[in-house]
Amino acid sequence: MLLALSAGQKTGLALVGAAFIVFALSSALLIPRYRPDFPGRGLKLFIAVTVLFFVGMLSAVIGFAKESEHKGAEGTTAAATTSSQPPAPAPPPAAKGDAAAGKTLFAANGCASCHTFKPANAKGKVGPDLDNLAADAQKANRGSLEQYTHESIADPGAYTVPGYPKGVMPPFASLGPKIDDLVAFLTQKS
Ligand code: HEC
Repeated sequence: MLLALSAGQKTGLALVGAAFIVFALSSALLIPRYRPDFPGRGLKLFIAVTVLFFVGMLSAVIGFAKESEHKGAEGTTAAATTSSQPPAPAPPPAAKGDAAAGKTLFAANGCASCHTFKPANAKGKVGPDLDNLAADAQKANRGSLEQYTHESIADPGAYTVPGYPKGVMPPFASLGPKIDDLVAFLTQKS
């Protein structure tokens, strides 16, 4: 389920969790060093704070889970249109790369064995259908379509498409500037 949470939700959870852990560790290990009778007369307050953290953590988890269920229910089209950022005004003419060279690279590097992509006549099923790349890029919210595509090829571990296995796609960083050709091929309007 964690996969389905957005980066923001994850940070929120992590923050609440981290505060919880810091509190637990310091009251169990740190404070008793200086005040052997801790919590002593402060016992009631200590219990209150503990309960507060417990409830806080619980509602954070439940709240975030609800939020992501809700988002999931809206479906792909809604998610695309309700994205919080306004659509970028006229994206600059993309493609430093050469789409035709990208097509050759796509075939030469075995991308087709894992990916479906119509312009390449590819029917792989291990990774996401790259005909939906633009929608996935929007959901991932990791920069422009070109930036997202470049990162997905050079460093697939940086972000894992929800519903797909992590660490299965090998990084192709060694292709260097040729990645731009692949990006051009994958992002061209066909
Ligand atoms: C061994 C299987 C495999 C190979 C080979 C492979 N991929 Fe992938 N790819 C995946 C998987 C699995 C994912 C989804 C998980 C992730 O994000 O790492 C993915 C994700 C992607 C994404 C992000 C897709 C999206 O919808 O967000 C792109 C772009 C991509 N691959 C391009 C390529 C290109 C280009 C090649 C060839 C140079 C390639 N892949 C080779 C398995 C593979």
